[in-house]
Amino acid sequence: MAFKWKEEFNLNIDEIDKQHKKLMEIGKKAYDIAILDDGYDRYDEIMTILDELLEYTKYHFEYEENMLKKYNYDHIHDQEEEHGFYVYKINEVSSREDIDDNQRKVILEIIDFLSEWISNHIMIADRKYAVFLKTV
Ligand SMILES: [Fe+2]
Ligand SMILES: [Fe+2]
Repeated sequence: MAFKWKEEFNLNIDEIDKQHKKLMEIGKKAYDIAILDDGYDRYDEIMTILDELLEYTKYHFEYEENMLKKYNYDHIHDQEEEHGFYVYKINEVSSREDIDDNQRKVILEIIDFLSEWISNHIMIADRKYAVFLKTV
């Protein structure tokens, strides 16, 4: 299941954990609608939520980057690069041309990708700065 909060995401930094949970919640909303096979066209609804996901993701990334700058984190550029890639990927969703052909399948694939990516980012890259922050 996409965008499901896991214990492994906990970095023990309250504000960051809160923001990661919120990201997962928004993503899960999109997934829950995309998975509905009720014959309704959910495209606009899903796109609205993906927009919300984009806005909140940007807010979260900026928050993280500012925090890491403040503490002179060595790997800030890796964070910035990965964040930039993800924002680009979410943005790309709205400009896809093949999305009408097999809407549900395409949207579910996109949501899966976004979920997988952010989960790995939290568990690897974000965990790395969390370990660093415990030392400063
Ligand atoms: Fe993060
Ligand atoms: Fe991050």
